[in-house]
Amino acid sequence: MTKVLIPGSFDPLHLGHIDVVDQAVELFGDVVIGVLVNFEKPSGLFKPAERVQLARASLGDRRSVTVHAFGGLAVQAAAEVGADFIVKGLRTPNDFDIEQQMAHINHSVTAIRTVFLPCRSDLGFISSRFIREIAAHGEAIDHLVAAPVAAALADRFAGPSH
Ligand code: PNS
Repeated sequence: MTKVLIPGSFDPLHLGHIDVVDQAVELFGDVVIGVLVNFEKPSGLFKPAERVQLARASLGDRRSVTVHAFGGLAVQAAAEVGADFIVKGLRTPNDFDIEQQMAHINHSVTAIRTVFLPCRSDLGFISSRFIREIAAHGEAIDHLVAAPVAAALADRFAGPSH
């Protein structure tokens, strides 16, 4: 079985991410989701441990998928878990530019290869940033994320004083 690392911020994990995870399971078998964070300077909406917990809850009982938080570089996380490849989902052609650059720089550091998987076309418009913004303003995001993330966002933005 081939093991791959899917690195990202996952703040929070959404349905587009889950589609890429499922494609990676089908193609490679063993998937580690790497929540890449700067432990010294935490930023974002959810803390690293919350992102991990929400990703695990969203992914349910997919047995060949694990979720871990990592500081440092994606290539270091890949080496730590023994990943054969890094996998990245591409939502739009625009994603390709920066992802290609990251793939080349990462390969230059540890020789690890990156495989791109196109996100399902009907999910390609979803982004964690948009989800945070929409939820913060009280609009529904339940169609964009799994139920545990929807509940966590509702909780985070409950009441007038969030
Ligand atoms: O979900 P995102 O925010 O698009 O993910 C970007 C991420 C976390 C995968 C990328 O910023 C990353 O790999 N960060 C870790 C730091 C690193 O490896 N930098 C080296 C050049 S890419």
